[in-house]
Amino acid sequence: MTNSARPYRDLHDHLDALREAGLLVTVDRQIDKDAELHPLVRWQFVGGVNEPDRKAFLFTNIVDGLGRKYEFPVVVGAIAANRRIYSIGMRADVDDIQAKWDNAIAHPIKPRVVADAPCHDVIHEGRDLIGEGKGLDRLPIPVSTPGFDSAPTLTATNVVTKDPVTGVQNMGTYRAALKASDRLVVRMATRVGGAGGYQHYLAHKKRGDAEMPCAIVLGCPPAVAFMGPQKLPVGVDELDVAGGLVGAPVNIVRCRTVDLMVPAEAEVVIEGFIDTEYVEPEAPFGESHGHVALEEYNMPMRVTAITHRAKPVIPSYISQVAPSESSVIKRVAYEPLFLDHLKNGLGVKGVKRVSLHEPLTGLLRVTTIVVERGMPRTEVWRALYGAAFFKGDCGKICIAVNEDIDPDNSDALLWALAYRSNPVKDVRAVESRGQGHGPKREHSGEEDSTLLMDATMKSDMPPLALPKKPYMESSRKIWEELGLPALRPQSPWFGYSLGDWLPQWDQAAERAASGRYLENGRISAQQRKKGLVPETKFRPGED
Ligand SMILES: Cc1cc2nc3c(=O)[nH]c(=O)nc-3n(C[C@H](O)[C@H](O)[C@H](O)COP(=O)(O)O)c2cc1C
Repeated sequence: MTNSARPYRDLHDHLDALREAGLLVTVDRQIDKDAELHPLVRWQFVGGVNEPDRKAFLFTNIVDGLGRKYEFPVVVGAIAANRRIYSIGMRADVDDIQAKWDNAIAHPIKPRVVADAPCHDVIHEGRDLIGEGKGLDRLPIPVSTPGFDSAPTLTATNVVTKDPVTGVQNMGTYRAALKASDRLVVRMATRVGGAGGYQHYLAHKKRGDAEMPCAIVLGCPPAVAFMGPQKLPVGVDELDVAGGLVGAPVNIVRCRTVDLMVPAEAEVVIEGFIDTEYVEPEAPFGESHGHVALEEYNMPMRVTAITHRAKPVIPSYISQVAPSESSVIKRVAYEPLFLDHLKNGLGVKGVKRVSLHEPLTGLLRVTTIVVERGMPRTEVWRALYGAAFFKGDCGKICIAVNEDIDPDNSDALLWALAYRSNPVKDVRAVESRGQGHGPKREHSGEEDSTLLMDATMKSDMPPLALPKKPYMESSRKIWEELGLPALRPQSPWFGYSLGDWLPQWDQAAERAASGRYLENGRISAQQRKKGLVPETKFRPGED
């Protein structure tokens, strides 16, 4: 493979890395891809398994609902069952993912065209695609939400289309429902902030083209797979940014039957043409907004070729109700974009973190902005408006909090709202927002709105009433020595100053915690006063 040597991992190398890290479960027992496969993996998202303990699942013995056996294995969760899996694919520590994205977007590298590509090891065209057990029907594509979905659906896709005017390609992760051995229906979001591929579809329609060339890639090298769900500006070629991520050109190859370039080390490429005149009913399908997308007309694609590696692994993303693989992929990719926009795009100083709320709300609805204490109120509002209107379909509810609030802890968020905001001054409802990615009413034309909440501290407050950190830490040792149940500290688990605190009180507390309270009594006896109402405040050293 001299002309396609590469300094990045393909999916097979990545699975080896996951296996080595103990993050891959291999299931050799027979599994029904239509009724059992996704529900089995779902348990790790709804069964109380902690995020770090989630794994990728490789299924090697697949049958369908009719008992037909499949040749190729299926992997679920391999790209983002949790952040660690994502970070292994990214080849960066979890904490460095943001910097890696920032650098890749700032320094894209053009891909390299190769003539021979592993994704062309095996080629199916023409009659080879027609009939049961052939074409798409040969691929073990799972049903994602048995009981609701109407078709096995491709989910781990990188769908490649090209702007017919500029020639710039786009790559998006869009679902595609299997309809026949040589036909599927692709769903590209038409809403504002929706699919880049849809803009190409419109451009083809405008030119009067009856079809749009399309390549659906399954099983890209992880660095390329990450590009599918990433929201880059329209006109940016994701393959260039993938090069930026790996620090070298990504190998690409020309498709066999459409004029598009695809990653050379892909597992499977489904080539064909999307009809720009006819649409065909697609779904129901369990969606990432957590509801079932009801049946709707989408874009039929006639398949002209399926090419694959000699031994492909078929990836499938588990999506639907968050948390899921889909929400992890998107979260890790989108949060850096928001932070960069607020800090560098808008120049709001003091923004520390942007967190897109994941469980159930699925990232697009609730955004928490973590800011430094003491940030001017006007700047807090600029951050809130900036986050709310950065993307057309994100940030319906935005909350600003200080750094001591863990945005992943909804109890802490409510605590901040309850104690640090004055609803009349700190809450604003803003008109005019599209429905965004959500259950069916998005098509009713009904407008949504935006809720902005400043739950930052407006002035100093007394400390959080828990023992200080050293006391909690030393007593934790005793807890463990006593063999009590393993602890999973929930923030906040120790007390800290919130600004309104005096050195004299620190000294008094230290005396009390070391058994010297009588000394405090002697000091307070000297401060006795006549004629004051009880509960009159006393600030030693300040009166
Ligand atoms: C598992 C998964 C499935 C998705 N399905 C769709 C889909 O069917 N249609 C769509 O427009 N976007 C879908 N998305 C979201 C897009 O991938 C995302 O908006 C991305 O930015 C699209 O790339 P683009 O901006 O180049 O179009 C999906 C994302 C994930 C992770």
